[in-house]
Amino acid sequence: MKHALFPGSFDPPTLGHLNLIERISRQADRTTVAVIENPNKPGLFPFKERVELLRSLVAANSLPADRIQVSLFSGLLVDYVRQLDYPVVVRGLRSTIDMEFEFQMAHLNQKLDSKVETMFLATRPELSAVSSSYVREIGRYGGDISQLVPSSILEQILPRLRG
Ligand code: PNS
Repeated sequence: MKHALFPGSFDPPTLGHLNLIERISRQADRTTVAVIENPNKPGLFPFKERVELLRSLVAANSLPADRIQVSLFSGLLVDYVRQLDYPVVVRGLRSTIDMEFEFQMAHLNQKLDSKVETMFLATRPELSAVSSSYVREIGRYGGDISQLVPSSILEQILPRLRG
């Protein structure tokens, strides 16, 4: 694959995201990891902070940093795909529950622009229960999230979760 676009909320990035970025960047010459800004869903981590977290995660985990860029985009995913000259959108699938939502999104994006292609990557079984929302919930109540987020960004994440 020439260029892969891995979009998401990344609120915050998790071990599942890191594993997908590693695996996508092995398959693609170039990978764009994009935080998609939704003004109606501000979430917990400010959008720019998510970009910084992803950048430090790429730098700290011996990923091919010269072939991975992290960006921030606000708007429709298809508009960003067009702007980047049609990379393949890659999304992770943890379960059949994800599948329903992901298929809907892929189908809608294809209706909006038939040239947009989405490919799915099955997550590693041991990471199938990892999600940003569980990280936020467990972290908020002081639970141990060290099995859920990359150790390289754990210390950066904790203050905001407990804040
Ligand atoms: O990490 P997430 O929250 O599962 O990522 C979802 C995301 C950001 C990829 C999705 O909500 C998205 O593409 N948002 C941009 C707005 C858009 O294009 N909506 C129409 C797609 S159905």
